[in-house]
Amino acid sequence: MVGIIGFGKMGEAIARGLIEKGVDIITYDVASERRIEADSLGVRVASSNLEVVERSDVIFIAVKPQVFTDVAGPLKGKVASGKIVVSIMAGVKSARVKELLDIQRVVRVMPNTPALVGEGVMAVCWCGDFSDSEKKLVGDMLSTLGVVVEVQERYMDAVTALSGSGPAYVFLFLEALTDAGVKVGLPRDVALKLAFQTIKGSVRLFELNGGIPRVFIDMVTSPGGTTVEALHVLERAGFKGIVMDAVEAAKRRSEELGG
Ligand SMILES: NC(=O)c1ccc[n+]([C@@H]2O[C@H](COP(=O)([O-])OP(=O)(O)OC[C@H]3O[C@@H](n4cnc5c(N)ncnc54)[C@H](OP(=O)(O)O)[C@@H]3O)[C@@H](O)[C@H]2O)c1
Repeated sequence: MVGIIGFGKMGEAIARGLIEKGVDIITYDVASERRIEADSLGVRVASSNLEVVERSDVIFIAVKPQVFTDVAGPLKGKVASGKIVVSIMAGVKSARVKELLDIQRVVRVMPNTPALVGEGVMAVCWCGDFSDSEKKLVGDMLSTLGVVVEVQERYMDAVTALSGSGPAYVFLFLEALTDAGVKVGLPRDVALKLAFQTIKGSVRLFELNGGIPRVFIDMVTSPGGTTVEALHVLERAGFKGIVMDAVEAAKRRSEELGG
């Protein structure tokens, strides 16, 4: 049985992915409406986090980092040694999870919101000793949410800043491109449709061909044409530098929050 502590956005995403694989799930959430939602999806609802721990072999911790100390209190020393704890809490270091739960090992994962539709990217760190079969078991579970990338724990703040927060940057760009369409005279609904499909189609083109982004930039940039005019404005305004600064700021904040 797989346990999920905290049935919020991410807890539900994990459950939905695992339900499709026919995995038995048990969860607990302090919010009664979240427990009702879990029940309606066919997830067993426990009466406490401790019951989740006791009845599961793999336990996902999907509460906000701020409440982790309270959540961990009653669970300390109650996680049997063969069980696998998977923490998806942003910024909470493995050492802290191990200390507060009194366990020897933890899988630390940084997912992102496209996991809600099975298109997330999950950076995984195996913090402690895990056998190959345990890694496969957890890796297979995570791959129901999207692509799994193994990283060392020292990269987690950078991962948080890039792919964890990344969907916000992408949606901001979608909004900016839509506003730009309106600025040049398009109706908003048409602008959004054009902007969205341009991003989606470009991503697919890259996905099917691979390589480096520059090749695809050059593909639309003819000498003396329209695209190079726009690129000139973006480069002069420091577009890439701004994106780099933004991700660096997010990484700093992640380090601060992680103490
Ligand atoms: N959302 C993202 O983009 C994202 C990306 C990467 C990582 N994460 C990580 O994923 C974790 C979950 O994020 P989320 O966005 O799913 O948060 P969320 O929607 O707020 O879900 C957390 C759930 O846990 C419940 N909860 C609070 N205290 C609890 C307790 N003592 N026992 C059991 N359940 C409790 C909350 O209930 P109340 O609302 O009533 O407090 C809420 O329903 C966080 O640690 C976050 O850092 C999120």
